[in-house]
Amino acid sequence: NNPISFVYGNVHALSKYSDRIGAYLDAIHGGCGEAEREKLRRTLRIDDTLSDLPALIGGTAEGAQRVADIVRSLKRLSFSSTGGPEIFDLAEVVSKAVQWSASGSRGGAAVGIELDDKLPVRGNAGQLHQVIVNLVENALDAVSGRAGAHISVSGAVSGGEVTVTVEDNGPGIPADILTKVFDPFFTTKPVGKGTGLGLWISYGIARDHGGSLDAVERPSGGARFVMRLPAAS
Ligand SMILES: Nc1ncnc2c1ncn2[C@@H]1O[C@H](COP(=O)(O)OP(=O)(O)OP(=O)(O)O)[C@@H](O)[C@H]1O
Ligand SMILES: [Mg+2]
Repeated sequence: NNPISFVYGNVHALSKYSDRIGAYLDAIHGGCGEAEREKLRRTLRIDDTLSDLPALIGGTAEGAQRVADIVRSLKRLSFSSTGGPEIFDLAEVVSKAVQWSASGSRGGAAVGIELDDKLPVRGNAGQLHQVIVNLVENALDAVSGRAGAHISVSGAVSGGEVTVTVEDNGPGIPADILTKVFDPFFTTKPVGKGTGLGLWISYGIARDHGGSLDAVERPSGGARFVMRLPAAS
């Protein structure tokens, strides 16, 4: 998944290819006969090498573009950790974060929000704001362009635990991907659109707050993300 190792892998292959093409051209420039040339063409796999080149070059350019996207997004995805942990109302943070991310130009999706009056948690409000923004933006991406697009965000406190749920009626997450979505750099979005860091960072923030973040398939279709945090008293 790491686009840098992907670029390295391609460059390594390109360097091998360059050696083969070089050896082939050296023989030709050295005036080798047709029979020897055809033999070299086979043993050095010149035809395969040439037909592989466009994909290798294209893949390398794509990997480099992903790295550029990641660097550009680091500011957006990272979190300001000014100040130490404090007790605050997560309900306020969630409603602001939802407003913030849903107010963008990506209209079309209905966004429902249902929060208990107070959701007291201890930690860093800026970081938890970022988690909600990441989850809502993923949900908006998932429903984008679909008829009847709907996202719902809910928050409740019970049994010493604050739970925030973000769900959508998009395509959902296929079972074979469900275990990968929290991996760094895992993305199914095109180059220029996703870095694959949003959920990885969000997972880390939830864990740093003594909580958890899980992805589940909604029985009715679509995806559901649940963050659980210890309630502060
Ligand atoms: N609500 C969702 N519905 C369907 N798939 C999802 C949803 N949320 C996340 N995913 C899948 O998980 C992948 C990883 O999500 P993550 O937020 O980490 O990265 P991203 O959204 O692709 O990139 P970025 O967050 O940088 O914009 C997504 O590319 C997508 O395949
Ligand atoms: Mg994302």
